[in-house]
Amino acid sequence: MKLQPTLSRGALLAAASLMLGSILAGAVGAQGAAGGPFAPADTQTPAVTGDDAQAIIFERQQVMQKLAKDSETLGSIVAGTQPRSQLPQVTRALADGARDSLGSFREKVPGGRSKPEVWSNNADFMKRMEDFARNSEAMAKAGETGDMAGVTALMIDALPCKQCHDLYRAPKKP
Ligand code: HEC
Repeated sequence: MKLQPTLSRGALLAAASLMLGSILAGAVGAQGAAGGPFAPADTQTPAVTGDDAQAIIFERQQVMQKLAKDSETLGSIVAGTQPRSQLPQVTRALADGARDSLGSFREKVPGGRSKPEVWSNNADFMKRMEDFARNSEAMAKAGETGDMAGVTALMIDALPCKQCHDLYRAPKKP
C-alpha cells in the first residue's frame, strides 16, 4: 500500500483501527432495525405516535446504517485498500449523513434502540449530534481537496459514533 509521506505508517494504522472499532460497534447494530419500542422515559409523552412514530424511527435507523457503510468505506480508503479518489465523495456522504441524523432526532420519538436518556438528557444528546454534524462537515471540506492528512487528523472528532452509542444506544434485542 502506498502511504502518504506526511503520515507515519503507525498513525495511519492507528486511525484505521480506530475506524474499525466504531464500524464494528455500528455493525453489531445493523440488524436491529425491527425491534419493538423501547420503554419510553416516564417523563415524556411522545408528540408523534403510531405509524408516524414508526416511520421516524425507521428513517433514523436507515440514516445510521448508511453512516456505518460510509465509515467502513472511509476506513478502507485510509487503510489504502480502496482508491483515494473516493475521498471527496465519502467524506461528503458522511457529513450529509451526520446532518440528516441530527434532523431525524429533532422529533422526540422514543423507540427503536434509542435509550430513554436520549429524551431525558436531550440537551446533551443534541449537542453531541450538532458537534457530529459540524465536525464531519469540516472533515468533508478537507476531503473535498483530497487532503488525506487533514481527513485523518479530523476523523476522530468527526466520527464520535462509539462515544454516543455507549451512552445513548441500547443493546441489540435478541
Ligand atoms: C450523538 C449520538 C450518535 C452518533 C454521533 C452516532 N449515532 Fe448511531 N445511533 C445513535 C442512536 C441513539 C441509535 C439508536 C437509533 C434507534 O434505533 O432509535 C443509533 C443507531 C445506530 C445503528 C443501528 C441502526 C439500526 O438499524 O438499528 C448504527 C449501525 C449506527 N448507529 C451507526 C453509527 C455510525 C457509523 C456513526 C458515526 C459515523 C453513528 N452511528 C453516530 C446515536 C448516535
